[in-house]
Amino acid sequence: MLQDATAERRNNIAPIPFEADAPFLNIVGELPRELNGTLYRNGPNPQFSSPGAHWFVGDGMLHAFHLEEGRASYRNRWVRTPKWLAEHDAGRALFGGFGRKLPDAPPGLTDGGVANTNIVFHAGRLLALEEGHLPTEIEPGTLATRGYCNYQGRIAGPFTAHPKIDPVTGELVFFGYNAAGPLTSALSYGSVDATGKVTRFERFETPYASMVHDFIVTENHVLFPILPLTGSMERAMSGKPPYAWEPEKGAYVGVMKRNGTAKDIVWFRGESCYVFHIMNAWEDRGRIVADVMQFEEAPLFPHPDGRPTDPEKSRARHCRWAFDLSGNTDHFQQTYLDDLTGEFPRIDDRRAGLKSRHGWYACANPKAPMFGALSGIVHVDGTGKRLGQYLLPSGDTISEPVFVERSKDAAEGDGWLLAVVWRARENRSDLAVFNATDIEAGPAALVQLGHRVPDGFHGNWVGAP
Ligand SMILES: [Fe+2]
Repeated sequence: MLQDATAERRNNIAPIPFEADAPFLNIVGELPRELNGTLYRNGPNPQFSSPGAHWFVGDGMLHAFHLEEGRASYRNRWVRTPKWLAEHDAGRALFGGFGRKLPDAPPGLTDGGVANTNIVFHAGRLLALEEGHLPTEIEPGTLATRGYCNYQGRIAGPFTAHPKIDPVTGELVFFGYNAAGPLTSALSYGSVDATGKVTRFERFETPYASMVHDFIVTENHVLFPILPLTGSMERAMSGKPPYAWEPEKGAYVGVMKRNGTAKDIVWFRGESCYVFHIMNAWEDRGRIVADVMQFEEAPLFPHPDGRPTDPEKSRARHCRWAFDLSGNTDHFQQTYLDDLTGEFPRIDDRRAGLKSRHGWYACANPKAPMFGALSGIVHVDGTGKRLGQYLLPSGDTISEPVFVERSKDAAEGDGWLLAVVWRARENRSDLAVFNATDIEAGPAALVQLGHRVPDGFHGNWVGAP
């Protein structure tokens, strides 16, 4: 297998230049026999390097860890989007990120996205997701790309990388931002039932154009965060940042009843902040409680004039939002539950939208510089209190931790946590399997790869039928 020439790298962002099938992987410890299924992960892995393109807009590469009867195999494939295919034919980059075509690209070519952010299984479909375009359907065994999925033409436009699956009804609830075109303030909202039929699809206006990465779904409500990482066509046309941090615009969260309509949305106001990811949310006696990873200032994007945001404030912490639905106030509360820098929060998905007592997220080492890479995981209870923490050896990094229940009727939190770990010294990756309620003990099993899996975004477990 190909390997990078460098003996030790400082980070794990560079793409890997190959697709592979690796059966009978070496396992350290014992892989639980009940773990039968596949962990799918997605992340940027540009096929060709492109001048000025940020790594997070690179072509999606899927990594599948298949576990069965204590054995493990691995397969990775690029998502063959129209962009990937056109560049593959040309043998070079044709796009420079965010849909920007390079000057020497053939005319008539349009960007169809990179499908690099998440991979979700619903109603028999495995969907590679990226928030700018429709889902891309993937064949679950071979990872072959089947093409865009628009549910027989029932949906159109951008589709979030973070749809929610209602654990009670099996319904998939989604939204899309820039729904009326690039850098517009319209959102789309829709749902797909447990059989894969679109039951709702509509559009509505929000207070201003912003980057909306995730949203909130509870038993009876859906909440749309409009946070001041704003989009502006005027800026984009004058060579300024299309997305920028404008805290003076304030934070809005629109609360809609799931059986209601967009014209009845109530907009709550809050302190300016940015949130990429929601851990979970639920309804509690006339209130909605949402646990999020909140940044004081948006990371990765500048102020409108190009100045960077403050790195000390551009880190996420576990934070609780509370919305009083009684009509007494149009402000929502924001209370940090911890000071630890973290991201990629997950729960036992059987409690999605319902009161949960367990959560996990990737964290930075508190002793490392504040802006450090994610190098550990934390287990928290339903109040945000840390129940356990595991830190990797210095230099190693960890992916989003994905929970897998021990059995269908196991208690909440009883199961395993799966995360991909980059071993900096060896420059290769392991799939680490933790006991979800005892992460401090360290991984119960490691599935060892000969190569590295670049730092990616999100993944999900699909149990064997
Ligand atoms: Fe995300």
